[in-house]
Amino acid sequence: MSVHWHSEAHQCVESTQTILKQKAIEDGAPEGVVVVATEQKSGHGRHGRSWHSPPGNLYMSLLLRPECPAVQIGQLSLMISLSVYQAAGDVASGLEIKWPNDLLKDGKKCAGLILETELSGDQVDWLAVGIGVNVVDAPEEGSRMGAASVKLNDLKDLILEKIDQNYDLWRQGHFDEIRDKWLDAAHEVDTKMEIKLGKQREQGYFHGLDDNGNLRLKSDDGNVRTVSAGDVYLV
Ligand code: BTN
Repeated sequence: MSVHWHSEAHQCVESTQTILKQKAIEDGAPEGVVVVATEQKSGHGRHGRSWHSPPGNLYMSLLLRPECPAVQIGQLSLMISLSVYQAAGDVASGLEIKWPNDLLKDGKKCAGLILETELSGDQVDWLAVGIGVNVVDAPEEGSRMGAASVKLNDLKDLILEKIDQNYDLWRQGHFDEIRDKWLDAAHEVDTKMEIKLGKQREQGYFHGLDDNGNLRLKSDDGNVRTVSAGDVYLV
């Protein structure tokens, strides 16, 4: 079953994510609503960080209503990051995914995702997915995707097409296929990494993903623990 995408384009906004969430909350907007902007004044990322949003890059937010328990949001996060990777991979090279959902170009971040949700009890009511791709401009610590000639509208459509395919796979219960493709596109098992969550830091080795897309981290003594949130730094 395909999602019926309905895109709304803006010039300069505070944040596409804020507009989309407002539509979900106040208007009960349906699955498939997409908000795109040329520029954002208050683009935001995960963990309350701001997102560099000058004209020339892609800023989009889309609404899903996946009817699943909250514990499966990690699966959807991987599904979307795989889709962005596949779409970007059609127009650029040297790309890799980093858990949970960053896209790297030559080791530096060139796209990021934020997933924000509202629950009804344990069930997901709506999921607002924000996607930012550094197509022509990136902050110092990041990188450009490296496909300056791609039209932003074409890249947006490509991302929506890949999400459509992978979401369908997910709805049919094939998260295992998505996870396998994600693992092929990401850092290798046993890659050394540091995970930061708030003031906590932990080092270990990437040990794959669990059934809900959480990261498995192996420590030097061989113990494996599951991590559901945090920033990963490849060491
Ligand atoms: C991250 O890696 O921290 C996530 C970045 C997400 C940025 C996008 S840009 C479009 C949408 N609007 C926002 O304000 N944020 C997301």
